Amino acid sequence: MSWFPEKKSGQSWVHRVCQRILRTGPIPRHVAFIMDGNRRFAVKNHIERAEGHFKGFDKLSETLEWCLDIGITEVTVYAFSIENFKRSKDEVDCLMELARQKFTRLMQEKELIQKHQVCVRVLGNLTLLPLDIQQQIAECVHFSKDNKRAVLNVCFAYTSRDEICAAMREMAEGVQLGLIKESDISEDLMEKCLFTSQSPNPDLLIRTSGEVRLSDFLLWQTSYSCLSFVDVLWPEFSIWHLYGAILHYQRNYPVIKRAIESDLCDRERKQRESDYNCVLSECESTDQSKNSVSDLVLQYAKHREARIEQFVHHVNSKRLRYFEELASRHKTVHV
Ligand code: FPP
Ligand code: MG
Repeated sequence: MSWFPEKKSGQSWVHRVCQRILRTGPIPRHVAFIMDGNRRFAVKNHIERAEGHFKGFDKLSETLEWCLDIGITEVTVYAFSIENFKRSKDEVDCLMELARQKFTRLMQEKELIQKHQVCVRVLGNLTLLPLDIQQQIAECVHFSKDNKRAVLNVCFAYTSRDEICAAMREMAEGVQLGLIKESDISEDLMEKCLFTSQSPNPDLLIRTSGEVRLSDFLLWQTSYSCLSFVDVLWPEFSIWHLYGAILHYQRNYPVIKRAIESDLCDRERKQRESDYNCVLSECESTDQSKNSVSDLVLQYAKHREARIEQFVHHVNSKRLRYFEELASRHKTVHV
């Protein structure tokens, strides 16, 4: 099955009415999915485990269509966690083969990606993957990077704690290279170093199969997300479960919105305090008494922002180079 179904599956009038009702409320911009329950689905339906995962992919494709249809413009899915490498060799091989097939398919559907204007990003410690899959991924990411209508983030060889450690290493290296100061490290900077730096935080996270934990998925990014745990196994997930989760989001929206706004205020206050303390400690070491402290704080903030912009550019260029080099090597193999 394709990633983006060419022909829209027909929707009944009941769907359309429900969609219209939901659209009168806030629609989440970004939804994350923990697609859990493929193997239990296989056991329940007396099919091979591999087929359970393939059915899981088909459900992803359907879900993307539902999301686009209702106005969800960004989707993030947990396709393979670093923990999943601990599964039997047969199963890991099967999931890698599924990825190989689907990323090949994605590249055969370039026109469809362009038509839907979907930007595909793959987030995770990609160096843990077989080289041919890294190259396929790089080609997909590179090809679709300028698409603007929708974003699909596929978390592959990903765990949140690994992502946070990688971001911390980037910041430590930045301090070591003198690109940033230790005092520049903040929650905002951390977010700019995560694999998800290009995305807003998910508004809604849906986990299927009745498990009620996050399993090391987007731990930083979901602090203020609405969480929806659905009992159904992933291949059984339906448009009604999606609509139910959106309704759950809408009911909780006012509280979530207030919490996000309050967090934003806190961050701004902490940043002002940090700038102020930095200026004070610089004043102690140099004779800056002629300028007013508030002018110095403003000046300091401007320099800090410029420093961070340069550092973030350095981090992003490194990632871009990694994808570009792999993608160009992959194209050469094809020629
Ligand atoms: C969890 O179910 C599912 C996975 C580990 C794999 C999810 C992958 C897909 C749905 C396909 C996506 C593929 C690409 C290339 C985007 P489980 O195996 O933990 O099942 P269980 O909870 O019943 O044991
Ligand atoms: Mg599971």
